[in-house]
Amino acid sequence: MRSGCWFLLPSLTLAYPYFHDGSAIQPDTRSLSEIYHAALKEGGLVTLWHGGDEKNQQDGLKLAFEKRFPGMTLNVTVDLSKYLDVDIDEQLARKSLYVDVAMLQTLQDYPRWKEAGALSPYKPIDFNTVFDQIVDLEGYYMGVRFFHWPMTWDSSRVKGSGPTGYNDFLGKDYKNKLVLTYPNDDDAVLHNFNKIVQEHGTSWLDRLLQQNPRWVRGTQTPTDIIVNTNSNQTATFAAFGPFGSSSLKARVPIKDHFTSWAQTGAIFTEAPHPQAARLLMNFVISREWQQDLVENGLWSVRKDLSQPSGYNQSLLDMQNTDPLGFRDFMMDREMVERLRFWYEERLGVAKGLDPIFDNM
Ligand SMILES: *[C@@H]1O[C@H](CO)[C@@H](O)[C@H](O)[C@H]1NC(C)=O
Ligand SMILES: *[C@@H]1O[C@H](CO)[C@@H](O)[C@H](O)[C@H]1NC(C)=O
Ligand SMILES: *[C@@H]1O[C@H](CO)[C@@H](O)[C@H](O)[C@H]1NC(C)=O
Repeated sequence: MRSGCWFLLPSLTLAYPYFHDGSAIQPDTRSLSEIYHAALKEGGLVTLWHGGDEKNQQDGLKLAFEKRFPGMTLNVTVDLSKYLDVDIDEQLARKSLYVDVAMLQTLQDYPRWKEAGALSPYKPIDFNTVFDQIVDLEGYYMGVRFFHWPMTWDSSRVKGSGPTGYNDFLGKDYKNKLVLTYPNDDDAVLHNFNKIVQEHGTSWLDRLLQQNPRWVRGTQTPTDIIVNTNSNQTATFAAFGPFGSSSLKARVPIKDHFTSWAQTGAIFTEAPHPQAARLLMNFVISREWQQDLVENGLWSVRKDLSQPSGYNQSLLDMQNTDPLGFRDFMMDREMVERLRFWYEERLGVAKGLDPIFDNM
């Protein structure tokens, strides 16, 4: 038992110590239909907390899940992973957990929760189709979808064929035209900036600042601003879609490093709806849902699907991204904190509305 985990409520400890008997569980041997009926019988509800920075970001998942499994309700809450995890810690400490499943960017939480006994091991039917490197082989947690930060621009307002690497953003065409998420407000953005500065030096950052970028909170906010053609900003990087507008283009850098990671999911030991939680874990790694992600330009966590259009390698095979390196970065909280303040000194404290409430 690690008392240091529950700094919020130090007098409370966790109910379930972690026992490790070395025996790996097997993937669920039930059919999907059997799991579905068990979930219906349990009440037909599952509560998911998903990392993100706009409330509606998981509406697509909710819609697809509820359509695939009539009678089921996916009660999904999206908020910044760094806020969801501390809320979960508090619920755990108070022994009043009502979240069934967490799918977060804060990859450092999962080994800690596993060790504390807070996670329930489970391998969905298709567990073995998911890349081994992004799962806990004992089944306590697993990568459920890949995210990555592309470079994004409005092709109706950017001349030429768009950026191919981060040095392009230093050119005169991008003066006063960039909108960027504060790296000191999101660890995945911080990771991307850190990689760029490692490759191009701090002079790259100095020159970027001379471009007078607009700094915002939330990783969808830049794209929302670019899509609005009345805005002055036309391009971003280390930020994300949706890529709904036809003139909005996105691609990863040709040579420069870009950040990617496996958003990781787990079921809690105290999940009030364990069967529905299992059904959800089966669905998120299912061929149909992952294929849907691929068609929307994302990489699949399954080994048996093709790459998104325009790419011929999995994220784990590409030279200029490293989802496992991102996990290691997130585990090193001392380094992350030092970096965050290095940026904060240069950019100032992140200002603006909490992206969840910015109505974009
Ligand atoms: C749905 O999720 C919200 C936020 O996590 C929670 O407050 C609410 O109780 C949940 N609803 C049900 C019916 O469990
Ligand atoms: C866009 O740029 C123009 C010219 O620099 C400036 O006058 C205007 O205020 C800017 N608009 C916004 C919304 O910032
Ligand atoms: C994958 O695509 C890249 C860039 O388009 C190309 O250079 C490379 O040869 C391709 N590799 C394979 C194995 O097809």
